Amino acid sequence: MANFSQRIQSVSISGIREVFEAAGPDAINLGLGQPDFSAPAHVHQAAIDAIESGIADGYTFNRGIDGLREAIRTKHKRDNGIDLPDGSVIVTAGGSEALHIALEAHVDPGQEVLFPDPGFVSYDALTRIGGGRPKPIPLRDDLTLDPAAIEEAITEQTAAFIINSPANPTGAVQSPEDMREFARIADEHDVLCISDEVYEHIIFDGEHVSPMHHAESDNVMIVHSCSKTFSMTGWRIGWVFADPSRVEQMLKVHQYAQACASAPAQYAAEAALTGPTDVVDEMVEAFERRRSIVVDGLQDLGLEVPTPKGAFYVMPKVPDGWIDAVLERGVIVVPGEAFGEAGTGYARISYATDDEKLIQALDVFDEALASLS
Ligand SMILES: Cc1ncc(COP(=O)(O)O)c(C=O)c1O
Repeated sequence: MANFSQRIQSVSISGIREVFEAAGPDAINLGLGQPDFSAPAHVHQAAIDAIESGIADGYTFNRGIDGLREAIRTKHKRDNGIDLPDGSVIVTAGGSEALHIALEAHVDPGQEVLFPDPGFVSYDALTRIGGGRPKPIPLRDDLTLDPAAIEEAITEQTAAFIINSPANPTGAVQSPEDMREFARIADEHDVLCISDEVYEHIIFDGEHVSPMHHAESDNVMIVHSCSKTFSMTGWRIGWVFADPSRVEQMLKVHQYAQACASAPAQYAAEAALTGPTDVVDEMVEAFERRRSIVVDGLQDLGLEVPTPKGAFYVMPKVPDGWIDAVLERGVIVVPGEAFGEAGTGYARISYATDDEKLIQALDVFDEALASLS
């Protein structure tokens, strides 16, 4: 029998997958973290053109094609007011790889990584895979992360803290003041802040401000992706945006593990970032409408639920037994504890599905509640 590394044995397969596997084929799936739209037509066409012309047949630069890296820098200048030089971008296989190379390059064995609890499942797992020690930080009652809680938790052993706004699994959006505080903490404590901004454009209330905009040092970096903004989860294109000195180190991991992101997908991503954004606006409008359906519906059922301001998730507090009762009735929702211990007692509901199914699911939620009394 092979010996497996302790690092890998300390990680389990995501709890989200277990829920999917338990569900029948006709289930209404409110467990998915992907928009239910097509990628824009001009994105499809750009990939087809790249493939047919042959330019996508070979490896690209490890960092990614020039046009896409330029489009990413332009995006951050335009949307976030951050102007970094050439050499500040690595195109990765989704935000997932971006998080991986960020942690591999910055965390020594035994060092701590702070992140929100409940938080995106990869933060804990990738910290362990990198040999670090996860330090989950519970959220405020409104499901945002308190900068003071991060600051208090920082020790000599802290390599990085991860923030995520708009957030998975909560849909919470950090205020501009919080973001300024995260930047100050990264500067003053000389600790890396990894700002996961993959849901940046899916925001209904408030505004997205990147802490990198406020940082006075190079201690804030951004992880981003085409997946959610352009409904391109299958294309696997994300990136890191950071000071070139950090990029140089992260590039080593990317180069040896990945060589480069898929070439046709890079051309598609360039078209996404430089093309019309009306499709994104339409998607966000649909999510906002669905948010109302779900939040109003849950509140009518008497469940306690902070109104999410972004992404496409909602996280109500639910009574014991409710999630099983919902799953048994053919609706998939994810137990909050899949996202960390502090998620216990909550459920994550994704509303990246059509209105009709959401309305059907609310009926099932009601039945499930009734079955418990
Ligand atoms: C908060 C967050 N960050 C990063 C990712 C990674 O996305 P991708 O690898 O598809 O870009 C996800 C995906 O669900 C996410 O929810």
